[in-house]
Amino acid sequence: MTADPIELGRLAEEIAREAGDMLVAKRPTMSGAVATKSSPTDVVTVLDTASERLIRDRILEARPEDRILGEEGGEAPGETDVRWIVDPIDGTVNFLYGLPDWAVSIAVEVEGTVVAGAVNVPARGEMFTAVRGHGAWLGGERLRCNGDVPLARALVATGFGYGVARRAVQGRVVAEVLPRVRDIRRGGSCAIDLCSVATGRVDGYYERGINPWDYAAAGLVATESGATLAGLRGRPVSPDFAICAAPGLFEELHDLLAPLDPDRDTD
Ligand code: IPD
Repeated sequence: MTADPIELGRLAEEIAREAGDMLVAKRPTMSGAVATKSSPTDVVTVLDTASERLIRDRILEARPEDRILGEEGGEAPGETDVRWIVDPIDGTVNFLYGLPDWAVSIAVEVEGTVVAGAVNVPARGEMFTAVRGHGAWLGGERLRCNGDVPLARALVATGFGYGVARRAVQGRVVAEVLPRVRDIRRGGSCAIDLCSVATGRVDGYYERGINPWDYAAAGLVATESGATLAGLRGRPVSPDFAICAAPGLFEELHDLLAPLDPDRDTD
């Protein structure tokens, strides 16, 4: 079975579109069907589960031997070097409240490298796609992140985890960042924040505690737009920490954040 990144990306886009359409159609009938996960603020709706089921079924119909990692269902083993990384709804709290910034995110990894990704933002009618080496796209428009923005004029997106202790530290960190940048945005979806770096709707992004399903697809969109996505002190992006911005701003943001030790959860 082929592992052509362009074909895998097309399939990711098709499935992300179908899941988004299902979510838009079913959201109005979703009433009170909410459970909590890691903390009382970390919610999962019945539609997160339904979306992931649909996505897993479609992947396995097309490619029965691939592996799948999904936010709600965990890791499913397979026989190939292809792994799909799925967030059925990134920005679940926005989805719950009827805010538009939630996304279906599907990435495809081959031998451990993300080669294609699709981030569907149905409430905005936007589909972000990227294939490694072939650029990042919003529909037919090729994306380039903002360049040459100094830290003091940077609009910086960030997010907060669901745990109380982590949030307390994140609040102290953002208090140090805010006076040094143009402003801060907290959109509520890591995937959309990274796509916003790619489109130039924000200049940079940082967050502690995001997961591969949050950043796998949108991280490729961001890097294919020219941005750097990495962790602190030369480490790769990981749940420990993520910073994303064009080269130049990336280093400035990194050097502001690193001495604040933002990758800790207690004082
Ligand atoms: C969350 C969103 C949010 C980020 C959190 C994530 P979820 O994902 O991406 O922006 O701040 O860290 O957990 O829970 O909506 O899938």
